[in-house]
Amino acid sequence: MYRLVFTQVLSRFDAEAVHHLTIRLLRLLGMLPPVTRLLHRLLAPRAESLRVQAFGVHFPGPFGLAAGFDKDAGCVAPLAALGFGHVEVGTITAHAQPGNPRPRLFRLPESRAIINRMGFNNSGAAAAARRLRRVRSVPAVVGVNIGKTKVVSEADAVRDYVTSARTLAPFADYLVVNVSSPNTPGLRDLQAVDRLRPLLAAVKDAAGRTPLLVKIAPDLPDEEIDAVAELAAGLGLAGIIATNTTISRAGVASTEAGGLSGRPLKARSLEVLRRLHQKAGDRLTIVSVGGVEDLDDVWERLLAGATLVQGYTGLIYEGPLWPYRIHRGLARRLRRHGYASVRDVVGRTA
Ligand code: FNR
Repeated sequence: MYRLVFTQVLSRFDAEAVHHLTIRLLRLLGMLPPVTRLLHRLLAPRAESLRVQAFGVHFPGPFGLAAGFDKDAGCVAPLAALGFGHVEVGTITAHAQPGNPRPRLFRLPESRAIINRMGFNNSGAAAAARRLRRVRSVPAVVGVNIGKTKVVSEADAVRDYVTSARTLAPFADYLVVNVSSPNTPGLRDLQAVDRLRPLLAAVKDAAGRTPLLVKIAPDLPDEEIDAVAELAAGLGLAGIIATNTTISRAGVASTEAGGLSGRPLKARSLEVLRRLHQKAGDRLTIVSVGGVEDLDDVWERLLAGATLVQGYTGLIYEGPLWPYRIHRGLARRLRRHGYASVRDVVGRTA
């Protein structure tokens, strides 16, 4: 049904216009608490076997929404009501900013992919904090993903991240330092260990007791992935989110600038997960994201060592019942294989 609506209607409109309309509808839903609660009752994961505990946080299911969809933290409750086990909001920057000029979001349906160069359009940390402070109609696990304000110089980057961390940590179940988006000039250079160390140390300090993770790019060479994993473990971070979008255009026809997500990212994202699990799986929680389309992908990521799995592009192509279907299928598969819990699957074939 959704596929028909997508090919016949949604795909004919500008991708960003559809996104804003979707956000508006979700916000509207958020203003109707009884409806949100009903949806939550119908769609949110409830099977005991799906529950996951990671870095001290209880997740109702392992599959969550990746950063970039709810950039302004405006529709956390409705997204949780659709069945996501957590919602990662952002990327949020210390100062509000408009992002890059449009068009900046492109669908590649034949590749089941998206290219975006949004550039962290968001209304800033203080505005997001005000939204996150509000009482929610349904329970939701919220990750807050923070990035550098574009106009802030690289020399002031640490202070900028620290401002966001201080403002948002009190409202986050976990915090993510994003140093891996390709659309803010110089941002990914912060992944170099010499620059990442002081940044993560300062943000960890500012985050207080809120678990801190770092999100990395799939384009990092393997040795740098190892180095970031060592650094994160050494600093006592909670985990690593792998991966962000890629600047590679292998396997796609488009040459639009920006980050590529969806199916073409799948193989590299899985490879990075395996590497991280092998290097630091005993010390860090690994959150796998990139090219996850269905239950088989989620299952594969869990087996490869991911405690949590995220997706974004799949929501565009599969529609609003996507997280519900994945969790329902996962609960059935666990039962069929005789596993009492998701925990029993994590890392089994790594
Ligand atoms: C993203 N992603 C992203 N990541 C992030 O850390 N901060 C952000 O602001 C954004 N923004 C964003 C916008 C759009 C339109 C897309 C498609 C993606 C990356 C996202 O969280 C995820 O890491 C990748 O998209 C890979 O996962 P999927 O999409 O292949 O499931």
